[in-house]
Amino acid sequence: MTQQPSLHIDIFTLFPGMFEGPFRESIVARAVESGQATIALHDIRDWTHDRHRSVDDRPYGGGAGMVMMAPPVVESVESVLGEDLEKTRILLMSPAGVRFTQGMAREIAGSARLALICGHYEGIDARVETILGAETVSIGDYVLTGGELPAMVIVDAVARLLPGVIRAESTDEESHEGAGVEYPHFTRPVEYRGEVVPDILLSGHHQNIREWRAAQAAEVLERRNQRETAPPGDQTE
Ligand code: ADE
Repeated sequence: MTQQPSLHIDIFTLFPGMFEGPFRESIVARAVESGQATIALHDIRDWTHDRHRSVDDRPYGGGAGMVMMAPPVVESVESVLGEDLEKTRILLMSPAGVRFTQGMAREIAGSARLALICGHYEGIDARVETILGAETVSIGDYVLTGGELPAMVIVDAVARLLPGVIRAESTDEESHEGAGVEYPHFTRPVEYRGEVVPDILLSGHHQNIREWRAAQAAEVLERRNQRETAPPGDQTE
């Protein structure tokens, strides 16, 4: 029997405990149980050299906050990835990064090895990105306290795309319709508090249903884009 390819994910963090609950409860757990993914958590502090196990220091040039030092981050990634370093996609979590997209999730789901580095404090020494050949990635235009939640978001988005983790039709449909922008869904009961399910969905006419859903999805996308481009306080249509 041929072995299905699986994805190995290494996560480098100062807070490995943060991942326990989410990874135990979610679809990510299913991906791991079914052998589609393996996840290893690495505590960056294990690669510190001083007796205080320091991972951060004040920024050169002055300024607020602390910066994560390059050596423990670089050495943790190098020692874990070893010879695979060159062929591993290494993502560094930062609000200053390129926006993570469904397209990136799909690319990663088709690859063999991923490494996620979680920043903390004011950021990570800029040399980490250069030395490791990492891509800096953001999950959205807001600032979180660290890269752990973004890393969980990325793992979740990727895990559900691995073969057999959720029903293939769900993810196939998304790739045809675009980046997860969907039409409205309805299930029983047919009428609830005076609100009824659109007749067309009860018609059994598959072609018409497909067309209606495509039109609805386009409308949902249009409304979302309007909200995103409208100036603050001007959220009306
Ligand atoms: N670290 C802090 N905020 C972040 C964000 N929005 N995306 C990725 N990493 C982050």
